[in-house]
Amino acid sequence: MSRTIIVDALKRTDFGTSITVKGWVRTRRGNKSVSFIALNDGSTIHNIQIVADGGRFSEEFLKPVTTGACICATGKLVESQGKGQTVEIQAETIEIYGTADPETYPLQKKGHTLEFLREIAHLRPRTNTFGAVFRIRHHMAMAIHRFFHERGFFYFHTPVITASDCEGAGQMFQVTTLNLYNLKKDKNGSIDYSEDFFGQQAGLTVSGQLEGELAAMAMGAIYTFGPTFRAENSNTPRHLSEFWMIEPEVAFNEIEENMQLAQDFIQYCIRWALEYCKDDLDFLGDMYDKELYDRLNFVVNNDFKRLTYTEGIKILEEAVAKGHKFEFPISWGSDLQSEHERYLVEQHFKKPVILTDYPKEIKSFYMKQNGDGKTVRAMDVLFPKIGEIIGGSQREEDYEKLKRRAQEMNIPEKDVWWYMDTRRFGTAPHSGFGLGFERLLLFVTGMANIRDVIPFPRTPNNAEF
Ligand code: 4AD
Ligand code: MG
Repeated sequence: MSRTIIVDALKRTDFGTSITVKGWVRTRRGNKSVSFIALNDGSTIHNIQIVADGGRFSEEFLKPVTTGACICATGKLVESQGKGQTVEIQAETIEIYGTADPETYPLQKKGHTLEFLREIAHLRPRTNTFGAVFRIRHHMAMAIHRFFHERGFFYFHTPVITASDCEGAGQMFQVTTLNLYNLKKDKNGSIDYSEDFFGQQAGLTVSGQLEGELAAMAMGAIYTFGPTFRAENSNTPRHLSEFWMIEPEVAFNEIEENMQLAQDFIQYCIRWALEYCKDDLDFLGDMYDKELYDRLNFVVNNDFKRLTYTEGIKILEEAVAKGHKFEFPISWGSDLQSEHERYLVEQHFKKPVILTDYPKEIKSFYMKQNGDGKTVRAMDVLFPKIGEIIGGSQREEDYEKLKRRAQEMNIPEKDVWWYMDTRRFGTAPHSGFGLGFERLLLFVTGMANIRDVIPFPRTPNNAEF
């Protein structure tokens, strides 16, 4: 008989019908005369109860049906008498696909710490928490594609291997087939990359933006959604070495439209979660974060506060003057630390904030320069509990200005000549931003550590699984 997934089985009311479910045993309890098996197949946070009558199934047969075992059960769908469930299955046959030795299966009890579960990331999708988080992750990916597709954006695939460091922060992982045990160097001690696989030094992308801009300058509105890599040695609950980024880029958009797009985008995703991930959000809210729904609803229903970096610094300086203690000093020209961002969001405005017009020294070469000669048309979206969730800007469309800025920042022409060409041929105002997918997931799930919203986190000193 064909399999019914448990999320569908739980909704059925055609009692008396025979159905088949397959999944992993969460618990089995009972006695000689009857056994109750809680079965989960990952399609929902809820288990279905399989009732195995002692007259039909011997103790001997049911013995290996322990937590973690995989079974196939066929039987009559009946209305459940027990509380907490509406339907159950009166088992007629049970097939054991695979046992899980109780002595060695690590997921015996509830209440393992998240740290312990990270060490068994290969099994943690079988827990309620990670089932919920990864289902929400899927739904958010769907929401993202829907949002852009509905608005006429094209999904554009940018390369994972590239020779250009978009952010210019020197955080690229190198990709090479050179023999590291026998590296040939020239007389200056430099490595001859013409011998390397790509004939030049190459690495894993830190952002698809530069290629995304090329596409926007032809197709109007595009977005990327793929893995990006940063060899930054930041061991924080908000940084990964491999994370997924969504980068829309829109021809003719100026910074104001870029800000509106960012707000609409995040609100759409959160609304989607509220609509399609209710069971999983209920669970996570209950378990980890009682204010989860309040925060999600608040963000959906309120405009983000827009102000300039300069205004933001003034507020922070006033806070310091009034006695607020920050770990890092703050003054005009310095980059904001997450504590500063969170102060603005959580204590001062009590809503998401979009900061614009940052000093050019702390931002990338491609951002549009303001008339003041000091700031660029950057925008960072700052969120409660997270800090920066989006970074973006209007782009410099003027060839000469961009070229000068690239020179000032020591970006070799040979690395970005193709990028510069869009400014030589049919240039136009355009804007875009990057949303860190896992930072969005931190916000939506209420989880506290970014390692717990991606299946197999990569962080300094950790590439297991
Ligand atoms: O601010 P970032 O560095 O901006 C860019 O890469 C631009 N090229 C985007 C653009 O304009 N198209 O990164 C964008 C976002 C950040 O706001 C943050 O959410 C996320 O990417 N991010 C990280 N997420 C997890 N781990 C890290 N190490 C991250 N670094 C950035
Ligand atoms: Mg940034």
